[in-house]
Amino acid sequence: MYGATVTSWKLADGKEQLFLSEKAILDGSKPIRGGIPVVFPVFGPPPQNHATSALPQHGFARSSNWEFLGKSSSESLGKGDRKQSNESVTLDFGLSNTMLSDESRKAWPYEFGLVYSVMLTKDGLETSLRVQNNGSQNFEFKVLLHTYFQIDDISKIRVKGLESKTYVDKVLNASIHTETSPSLAITQETDRVYQALDAGVPVVISSADDDQPIFSITRKALDDVVVWNPWADKAKGMADFAPDEGFKNMICVEAGSVASWQTLEAGETWEGGQFIKPRL
Ligand code: BG6
Repeated sequence: MYGATVTSWKLADGKEQLFLSEKAILDGSKPIRGGIPVVFPVFGPPPQNHATSALPQHGFARSSNWEFLGKSSSESLGKGDRKQSNESVTLDFGLSNTMLSDESRKAWPYEFGLVYSVMLTKDGLETSLRVQNNGSQNFEFKVLLHTYFQIDDISKIRVKGLESKTYVDKVLNASIHTETSPSLAITQETDRVYQALDAGVPVVISSADDDQPIFSITRKALDDVVVWNPWADKAKGMADFAPDEGFKNMICVEAGSVASWQTLEAGETWEGGQFIKPRL
């Protein structure tokens, strides 16, 4: 329930797909380093003079206690009369303003409801978030599904689907660039916010060896993608990151809406999510 963070996703052969730090703190005293933390309602350090200014980095969703709303499975009719059972299983989690710590509620005093749905299908994993404004005031939010993908070797992957997109390079003083590479290699500390990606075009983590997708990430209403790898020094500097060399086995490709604020009017609902198709 803590942060509604998915900490593990295994394929039928037992292979783990998500990176979870060996020193991830799971007792609720710090956001979980790994898996899929939910970033809401602010991304990164909050700006000054904004409704989110008093919140911690990446907001409160990843460090609040959510509630389990229930499980549902859907079955589809296969070819002919053969029924295939358990095509997908969905777990729903909820968080609302009344469940926040006093501190968070004071820092962001809006009436809201979040429903986070985690759906496991035979083809992949979908995680989606519904944001409801239950109050009488509009509010602004950013949202990001901070997915830590587990990979065998950072030197053997490429990130595709970002060519010609504008990005903010947080490693280079938030300077603005245009991606020229159709196939991005990660060779150093990387922290980039790619903006305004094309809807329906997946971002792909592919193998440099055979050029085949390892993960393909499709987004709904999440137009921005953050690519993050702390690399050696930053990884060592994070108390909850282990092993030190673990940065070679992870890449964060984070689908979000973070380049600008979403305004949610009183009574309105917003929904967005990602579908991750692994190499099967
Ligand atoms: C990424 C940010 O989304 O999250 C990085 O772009 C940040 O700037 C990283 O370092 C990890 O953040 P945190 O708060 O989990 O250490």
